[in-house]
Amino acid sequence: MAKPKFQTPRGMRDIIGEDWKYFDRVFEVAKSFANFYHFERIETPILEEAELFTKGIGVSTDIVEKEMFCFKSKGGDYLALRPEGTAPVVRAYIQHGMKSLTQPVKLWYFSQFFRYEHPQAGRLRQFWQFGLEILGEQNPALDAQIILIFYNILRELGFENLIVKINSIGDSFCRPYYKKVLVSYLKSKVYVLCPDCKRRLKENPLRVLDCKRDKCKEIVFQAPQILNHLCESCKNHLKSVLEFLDELQLPYNLDPYLVRGLDYYTKTVFEIFEESEKGKTFGALVGGGRYDNLAKILGGEDVPAVGGAGGVERIIELMKEKQLKLASEKVPKIFFAQIGELAKRKSLKIIEEFRKEKIPVYESIGKDSLKSQMKLADKLKVKYVLIFGQQEALNDEILLRDMETGKQKKMRLKNLIKEVKKIL
Ligand code: HAM
Repeated sequence: MAKPKFQTPRGMRDIIGEDWKYFDRVFEVAKSFANFYHFERIETPILEEAELFTKGIGVSTDIVEKEMFCFKSKGGDYLALRPEGTAPVVRAYIQHGMKSLTQPVKLWYFSQFFRYEHPQAGRLRQFWQFGLEILGEQNPALDAQIILIFYNILRELGFENLIVKINSIGDSFCRPYYKKVLVSYLKSKVYVLCPDCKRRLKENPLRVLDCKRDKCKEIVFQAPQILNHLCESCKNHLKSVLEFLDELQLPYNLDPYLVRGLDYYTKTVFEIFEESEKGKTFGALVGGGRYDNLAKILGGEDVPAVGGAGGVERIIELMKEKQLKLASEKVPKIFFAQIGELAKRKSLKIIEEFRKEKIPVYESIGKDSLKSQMKLADKLKVKYVLIFGQQEALNDEILLRDMETGKQKKMRLKNLIKEVKKIL
């Protein structure tokens, strides 16, 4: 078959059929946790001023350097399709004066994001994330709580081999000193580093720790670790977060080279992975951390904050690979068939009554012949068919046919819902 002329853009997908069951499942689980922990939903615009991200995420990060979809609007504004949700949430917090609300302010989102990435498994150019952000408090208990919530969302979705990686990347007091130590080490190995890392070494040396190339990884594994260079306050914060996780018996790996791909983090950073049986690497399912300086960078006051976000498509791909169960759906056991003008006219109202009573039914109100409706009912494998014909419509009655036994029973229309509830 010839390929249709118009296709989805590279790295972007239609969400159709089966996939919606997975999206709905992830949404429902994320929403139930967000509700339990009193997060309020937020949706920010898909477009923001590009500068929000260059300032917030950092000019020399991959996201800003290579992955933003930017354009100039007709009015001359330089806009970007949002590549992530944290900078917009902080922008909204400042813009709406949320500092005057009771702190912390807890916000969550289930939204679409855009990154001009090289499309591959688990890496799309348009993707969904669910995110949870706690703004206005700096207590390490909140870092542990955010990790716990994401961990438990993934558990609830059925993942059983989760790996939590955690690290502290210090703050504006201790990180500059660590950077110096790191740069001096990396300079001694510069001849081995990839061209990207050579550039990173000058612009943003911590990014070298994030390089996925084998040669660079070997160098990184012998590099000085930030954990040995944290200031007292960062050291205590990390210690406390780990104590909370120990108390929760939540397993984690302290990974001294975890830095994450965004520059706004301070202190805690974390990622959650699931072991893939087929050895595929989807990357992290969830990533997050503390970002105490972001509000200040974006022109607000000091607002300590912590949060994280899960990649919905990555989670779904892994759920499919692992054949994780979706919650059992309420599949209708009844098909409602109608024949004749009068019956059809009354049918819409009857179907509405089923909806109000939350009884799922199939129907095919556009069809006229009983034969085609029965064929469909057969295909849907329902247990019962309600037959509403001209005669029944005149007498305010309806027939209930048991598809297994072939037996039919006449009922008064006014008793229909009561009778159906009885047989179901
Ligand atoms: P991130 O690590 O860039 O963090 O993204 C979070 C998650 O989104 C990743 O772990 C991954 O599952 C998913 N993801 C990222 N890029 C893609 C992609 N191209 N295709 C499919 N899935 C992807 C953030 O975005 C931060 N805003 C998280 C955060 C919230 N930190 C604090 N609060």
